[in-house]
Amino acid sequence: MKPMNIIDEAELHAASDIICDGGLVAMPTETVYGLAADATNDKAVAKIFEVKGRPQFNPLIVHVADQEMAARYVEFSSMAEKLSQAFWPGALTLVLPRKAASAISLLASAGLDTLGVRAPNHQIAQALIKAADRPLAAPSANPSGTISPTTADHVREGLGDKVDMILDGGPCPVGVESTIMKVNDDDVFLLRPGGVSRTDLERVVGAALLDARDAAKPQAPGMLASHYAPRAGLRLNASAPAPGEAFLGFGDICGDGPHALNLSARGDLTEAAANLFAYLHALDRMSATHGLKGIAAAPIPMEGLGEAINDRLARAAAPRS
Ligand code: TXA
Ligand code: MG
Repeated sequence: MKPMNIIDEAELHAASDIICDGGLVAMPTETVYGLAADATNDKAVAKIFEVKGRPQFNPLIVHVADQEMAARYVEFSSMAEKLSQAFWPGALTLVLPRKAASAISLLASAGLDTLGVRAPNHQIAQALIKAADRPLAAPSANPSGTISPTTADHVREGLGDKVDMILDGGPCPVGVESTIMKVNDDDVFLLRPGGVSRTDLERVVGAALLDARDAAKPQAPGMLASHYAPRAGLRLNASAPAPGEAFLGFGDICGDGPHALNLSARGDLTEAAANLFAYLHALDRMSATHGLKGIAAAPIPMEGLGEAINDRLARAAAPRS
């Protein structure tokens, strides 16, 4: 096992090329190993979900070098700034409002209007972010539903050759995942306990942390769209658009006409996942602009990423309260 502070420049260069070409690199962080991809590349992010075998699109943490880099993609309230100054680089993920023009893949934040960002305190993760010169989306580098990896061997056992490269940084010094906090202006909610303790956080916040369940309640009208649902209604398993409907196609079921987009003309589910959120947004905008009565979606096969796509479509189609 290699000590974590030795960086092999040739290996780093190769890893950075893989990231920039849309591939996947398992990288050590101080908490656990992450399965990293270019967070601005929809297809690369879709591969993460494919390799992990997640039946749902959970939002991913986007890893950045520092607060300055994060501020390109999310809004920092003064409380969020205080927390990042106190704990970054480190085992704290901040869930903050996405900037409207954020370059981050919509799939990385699973269509939410917030984004989880973290500056890892690990030389190799930092070096990879800087070499690739882009933010890295990275969930823990394990198959869905299994234990998070804290050594390169764990990653090899779990994901094997499904990842393009594994950077071995030795065992992760913290060994548990980051603490996740959602920050709404001055209100701070603990979403997941982790590497930074509640006591340390409360010392900086100056008050008790709020319960995660309260974060699910809208704090102000319109503030919380917990999962993206188009304003226009969504009709599932449609073979063609009804008059006045926009259409989300897949494969041969492509719903001709000016208001149709095809998730993947060649029926590729990874490509479809990469396009899903961007196309839902586009069709929703189109419906509003052209006064359409809703969106119809073609059936998606329940294999591979199809399960996660169907999960998101079903949520987006569910009646809203
Ligand atoms: O220490 C860690 O956090 C590791 C290393 C690799 O950074 N990453 C990690 O990622 O544990 P993952 O995907 O296994 O867990 C990320 C958690 C998920 O439960 C997800 O729901 C939550 O973060 N999350 C990410 N973005 C979010 C958002 N915008 N809103 C709410 N929860 C979010
Ligand atoms: Mg995980």
